[in-house]
Amino acid sequence: MEIAQDHNRRVWDERARQGLLHTRTARDDEFDDPLKAINGRGWIDGELAGKHVLCLAGGGGLQAPLYAAAGAMVTVVDISPEMLEQDRRVARERALELQTIATSMDDLPMLANASFDIVTQPVSTCYVPSLAKVYDEIARVLRVGGQYLSQHKQPANLQAAPTPFPSGYAVTEDYYAKGPVPPMHGEFEHREKGALEFVHRWEEIVGGLCRSGFVIEDLAEPKHGDPAAEPGTFRHRSQYIPPYVAIKARRTATPPLGQAATAGIVIP
Ligand SMILES: C[S@@+](CC[C@H](N)C(=O)[O-])C[C@H]1O[C@@H](n2cnc3c(N)ncnc32)[C@H](O)[C@@H]1O
Repeated sequence: MEIAQDHNRRVWDERARQGLLHTRTARDDEFDDPLKAINGRGWIDGELAGKHVLCLAGGGGLQAPLYAAAGAMVTVVDISPEMLEQDRRVARERALELQTIATSMDDLPMLANASFDIVTQPVSTCYVPSLAKVYDEIARVLRVGGQYLSQHKQPANLQAAPTPFPSGYAVTEDYYAKGPVPPMHGEFEHREKGALEFVHRWEEIVGGLCRSGFVIEDLAEPKHGDPAAEPGTFRHRSQYIPPYVAIKARRTATPPLGQAATAGIVIP
């Protein structure tokens, strides 16, 4: 069976070519105050000038050029060459420097240990089967004290039907499934048409961070719901199921639980 990353690379390349949702580049008004544009929650530590930032699965010409415009030294990793081409185009137009790398978020051997101050990741972990592999790679490339700022699809977002049944939204997908949820064939804003996506349980999203050597400093559920929205729309469904979770985490000096155990360190 074809692996998810090859399939999703083609899906995202095509989305970028067609200019579909989640492929827009940064706007002029965002470049007027790039730090404000990328730091809506106020989670970024201090200034970005001189900091090494990894935009993980963050291609498309939105986040990475804004981080670079705010003074950071930016590397952007994405599986989709078309999404990365948009970053290079925006960088050229704005005379910004960016390093682009086409690889999967769970396979970063080209990046050195402890080489980043911040790893930022928009909604994208749903495209890989193992979240633990992604977290372990991020923990490796982040310096101790560095920030990991991420968004993820909530499990119920991927488990529930897109349309009301007859009111509310039925949970139709297994919470413990190992494989991807069935691809969507229509356009629904909470899913990307044709993409292979995996439900990650709360225990994996939050517990997995702790096990990979992070502490969680804040957690937010961005509000997309609207009680007045038409049933079956993204905004209506989001009133029942918040689609995303945003997490502010920090790499600690404490070894992850598994490593501490093998190193003979006793954790009370
Ligand atoms: C929702 S977009 C996020 C970036 C976009 N600029 C945004 O803010 O909406 C998800 C990104 O994840 C990328 N992606 C999908 N699978 C990936 C993988 N295995 N490794 C790295 N990137 C991946 C896609 O190519 C796409 O650029």
